[in-house]
Amino acid sequence: MKNFAGSDILSTMDFSREEIEHIIAVAEQFVPVAFKEKTSNLLENKIMAALFYEPSTRTRLSFESAMNRLGGRVLSVVGAENSSLAKGETLWDTGKMVESYVDVIVMRHPTPGSPKEMAESANVPVINAGDGGGEHPTQALLDVFTVMREHKTIDGLTIALVGDLKYGRTVHSLSYLLSHFKVKLILVSPEKLKMPAEIIEHFKKNQVEFEETEDLSVALTKAQVLYDTRVQKERFSDVNEYEKYKHYYVLTKELVEKYNPKLTIMHPLPRVGEIHESVDALPGAAYFRQAQNGVALRMALLAMVLGKA
Ligand code: NCD
Repeated sequence: MKNFAGSDILSTMDFSREEIEHIIAVAEQFVPVAFKEKTSNLLENKIMAALFYEPSTRTRLSFESAMNRLGGRVLSVVGAENSSLAKGETLWDTGKMVESYVDVIVMRHPTPGSPKEMAESANVPVINAGDGGGEHPTQALLDVFTVMREHKTIDGLTIALVGDLKYGRTVHSLSYLLSHFKVKLILVSPEKLKMPAEIIEHFKKNQVEFEETEDLSVALTKAQVLYDTRVQKERFSDVNEYEKYKHYYVLTKELVEKYNPKLTIMHPLPRVGEIHESVDALPGAAYFRQAQNGVALRMALLAMVLGKA
């Protein structure tokens, strides 16, 4: 297993099963601190830069909460318009400068590959907090952490990925992680929003059992975990096309109760109509627990790349 101290977190393709399980185990140790039952000064005197050039609520706040609760400090840039990127500064130059101010950089950017570009210049660990329609590795790690907490296992589960599988970066990163486990995947999307070909190839190469369908009821019948996603409006060049798909699937309490009342329902959030509020009352509605798990998972990652766990 690699030594995480000083390393970047850019893509879930970089992780082995052993490393995924190790991160989950470390995250579990941080749960009492994340859930406000214990205090910690583990990252005292460490500074994290949160460079968010795209909208975010959960990812930025949970990273900031993680850092603050471990006694560290945070510098934030929110919105490209509030940084020198708006003046034409390159990511390379930004990385060179920010490395001298902080110990770790967490970055979200609309262009796939940009966290990697920053990691090439900055001499501190860079964590990808979402790069356009590319990847979102820390979300996917908190997703597998959540599946483990809800089910005590990942092996043996049938997991449905539903919605915008083309542009949804969380399902891309999650797919690479789940490929290490003995899962069956059901990929539910409209034809136009199917999982990218390279990820389908990855499933085939790694002998991951999967089926593709447009029919949500297939997932509701067979899956133990349903991972729903928002149609990614900001990635559509044609707004009419987005309008056509935005409510293609709407999960309701009635549907869940009809097919599988015990279904675990996950979503990276924000939801914009694809999960009806009535679903929240079901015991399997795990999306707010999932968001809460993000703090412990991000504590683990920060502590690991800073050489403290
Ligand atoms: C996701 C994202 O930014 O990709 N949100 C998140 O980080 N929890 C999902 C989304 O925006 O649809």
